[in-house]
Amino acid sequence: MAFELPSLPYPDTALEPYYSARTFSFHYGKHHKAYVDNLNKLIAGTDLEGKSLEAIIMAVAKDPTKTGLFNNAAQVWNHTFFWSCMTPGGGGRPTGKLASLIDQAFGSYEKFAEQFKATAVGRFGSGWGWLVLDKGVLKVVSTPNAEMPVAQGQVPLLTIDVWEHAYYLDYQNRRPDFVQAFLDNLVNWKFVADNLAKAG
Ligand code: FE2
Repeated sequence: MAFELPSLPYPDTALEPYYSARTFSFHYGKHHKAYVDNLNKLIAGTDLEGKSLEAIIMAVAKDPTKTGLFNNAAQVWNHTFFWSCMTPGGGGRPTGKLASLIDQAFGSYEKFAEQFKATAVGRFGSGWGWLVLDKGVLKVVSTPNAEMPVAQGQVPLLTIDVWEHAYYLDYQNRRPDFVQAFLDNLVNWKFVADNLAKAG
């Protein structure tokens, strides 16, 4: 059973003007789709065919001869997760238990946002910014290229894609403006809270 490109959790116009349908047409319709297609080609006829995406990622994450497979599998996972990290009318402050945990870990929402933005903007080249749970502690981290916290034993709660393909059509070279718009208008805090609840 081959992997399929999962549906977006909202219409491709739902996040405008912060994230355009034109960006989705390339980022989801071309980039994400290519990772799915490449993954299917790379596992076809191997013992990884039929395994879950997470199982494939964990099986090849530490194997330097399987970098291409890891990159495509991880990018499928990262993008599917990223789409759910955004929602129409999102962003701003979280509420409830998540808000208290962010205050405890970072001092305040403002300090969290400052650290998240600096980390995502500061990632040199292509990669991802994350809020993760690391041994029970909330942390902001970034990863290069296709790397992901799951492969490093951390639980991802929130991510932003900072590859240029994620923002260039809407923000050109202004990565800080994209990260700010993500924080102010796009973050799906309910998804983040659900991820935290699942992590126990
Ligand atoms: Fe991307």
